[in-house]
Amino acid sequence: MTSNAPAPALDPARLLQSQIAVVTGAAQGIGEAIARRFAQHGAHVVLVDLNRDALELLALDLASGPGSASVVCADVSSPEDHETVHAHCRDDLGGVHVLVNNAGINRDAYLPKMSLADFDQVISVSLRGAWLGIRTLSPLMRAGSGGSIVNMSSLAGKIGNPGQTNYSAAKAGLIGLTKAAAKELGGFGIRVNAVQPGLIRTAMTERMKPEVWQAKEAEVPLGRAGTPDEVAAAVLFLASPMGGYISGAVLEVSGGRGI
Ligand SMILES: NC(=O)c1ccc[n+]([C@@H]2O[C@H](COP(=O)([O-])OP(=O)(O)OC[C@H]3O[C@@H](n4cnc5c(N)ncnc54)[C@H](O)[C@@H]3O)[C@@H](O)[C@H]2O)c1
Repeated sequence: MTSNAPAPALDPARLLQSQIAVVTGAAQGIGEAIARRFAQHGAHVVLVDLNRDALELLALDLASGPGSASVVCADVSSPEDHETVHAHCRDDLGGVHVLVNNAGINRDAYLPKMSLADFDQVISVSLRGAWLGIRTLSPLMRAGSGGSIVNMSSLAGKIGNPGQTNYSAAKAGLIGLTKAAAKELGGFGIRVNAVQPGLIRTAMTERMKPEVWQAKEAEVPLGRAGTPDEVAAAVLFLASPMGGYISGAVLEVSGGRGI
């Protein structure tokens, strides 16, 4: 039988009020923008990154807004560091509602020049890091009232980028991980989705040669690169009750590039 009961009202200005959200790679770029958006919407954000100084400055800044933040300096490729995040959520905060597996790196080179270490490192941070995050924190979500997980893929995982066989493989792997985890965890009220940004202006892309940047930007139907905050808005949508019936989805935030 279907229910016509109206959904509980949402406050569009406080979509994550009183929610506890872990964001990895939060020290700068897209992760920082996500942390800022979440805190603006009332969340307590657990800021995870290798860069402790940047996290502490950000936490201080967020403390003066509607949300709050705490810092865990951690390497997402380390299972032990995920246990530290888990212990902080369980013991200090009483649970976790949202996990954003955003941390990622690139080590670009054409195949003949790409070392095994470059391949392993990229897979280890982007793919293994997300898998570890889901494996470690989803039991805590299950013990509560469910949750929402967002994995940061990339358009590279859909179309493949020359010079980025490692990165493209990791980002495509995140799609399989997202869909399998959505199927495993849906019964526990946990939604799992992915975002695929296109060309976004951050420290990661500012390393590109200007001619490569221009060629990529020319492929964007909207005619420009995106901002970290435009990715953060999509992540907020998926993480919040606005995306309450969305699971296993891949949302492109690319200005139409790669369609
Ligand atoms: N910028 C883009 O155009 C773009 C496009 C598609 C996808 N992405 C993805 O978005 C995510 C964020 O990218 P960005 O552009 O903001 O990059 P960025 O390099 O500006 O920021 C990445 C952050 O992750 C942190 N980090 C790196 N390795 C880590 C580790 N082992 N443990 C914990 N933290 C670690 C870094 O310290 C940094 O703060 C990445 O997964 C990236 O692949 C970016």
